[in-house]
Amino acid sequence: MPPTELEFFMQRVRKSVQQQADSFFNAQHLAAVNLDQAVRYSVFNGGKRIRPALCYASCLAFGGHWQHADMPALAIELIHCYSLVHDDLPCMDDDDLRRGQPTCHRQFNEAIALLAGDTLQAMAFHALALAPLEVSLRVATMDVLATAARDMAAGQTLDLDAEGTPITLEQLESIHRLKTGALIRASLEMGALAAGVTDPKSLASLQRYGSLLGLAFQVQDDVLDVIGNAHTLGKSVGADERMGKATYPSIMGLAQAQQLSHDLHAQALTELHTMEADTQMLLQLTDYLISRDR
Ligand code: IPE
Ligand code: IPE
Ligand code: MG
Ligand code: MG
Ligand code: MG
Repeated sequence: MPPTELEFFMQRVRKSVQQQADSFFNAQHLAAVNLDQAVRYSVFNGGKRIRPALCYASCLAFGGHWQHADMPALAIELIHCYSLVHDDLPCMDDDDLRRGQPTCHRQFNEAIALLAGDTLQAMAFHALALAPLEVSLRVATMDVLATAARDMAAGQTLDLDAEGTPITLEQLESIHRLKTGALIRASLEMGALAAGVTDPKSLASLQRYGSLLGLAFQVQDDVLDVIGNAHTLGKSVGADERMGKATYPSIMGLAQAQQLSHDLHAQALTELHTMEADTQMLLQLTDYLISRDR
């Protein structure tokens, strides 16, 4: 069967991220060989590249060129990879498997994993600083990414604080919006900025769509931790229950959590339909994110 339009798009995204990351790392000349290895290990390990895909799709939707989104897409993926390396550490979720391979601290050691995360975060902002975008747009993308990375860290803190503690649905929603929603939303905003979008109405609509999609994404991640397959997911299942994590299935039950993810998906699509842009690839990505099994 020939690849679908979405598969074709995702192949192009994966190839772009691979190429941009490779040439970026080569130009960095990291002075510590094991740190360089850990950084590459944490990026070149088969992630789905969903955030870069949203960034590219958003850029194209607003009439930008693919190349405009290269550095923003790389930057958001580097932040995401750093968040995963730290998320898996024994002091956080204590996971051994990530993207089907030993987690960074298992492959190297905890100190290297900590430093690889630090390095990835610095490199993300470096990539944006070097992006061939008009200076005000470049600064705007850095602002969006910095805000999202800060919110992600705050969300991760609240996630840890909530372990083994009963919390309300409102608190859980806030955690999910911060720890995961923020980077998803930022991916879309950075793509639009790369295309030169500055009008507040378009950006506000994109933010509403991104917020819904970001929340739906983490609800689905929680659901997959219950019903998913470790081999397909490339990470351990049942880990949330084991760690006493606050998740949607744990608070409202599996069926309700699945229903919520469908409702959020429908709301995201409604928001997307109001947007004045060529949203058809974003639409396909939205459908894929909700039906994914990994
Ligand atoms: C996993 O994100 C972590 C969450 C924020 C839920 P992804 O499901 O996008 O993970 P990769 O990048 O494909 O490994
Ligand atoms: C991760 O949430 C959010 C991040 C900021 C990395 P999870 O802890 O549920 O992600 P997984 O399930 O380990 O990928
Ligand atoms: Mg976590
Ligand atoms: Mg985790
Ligand atoms: Mg999870």
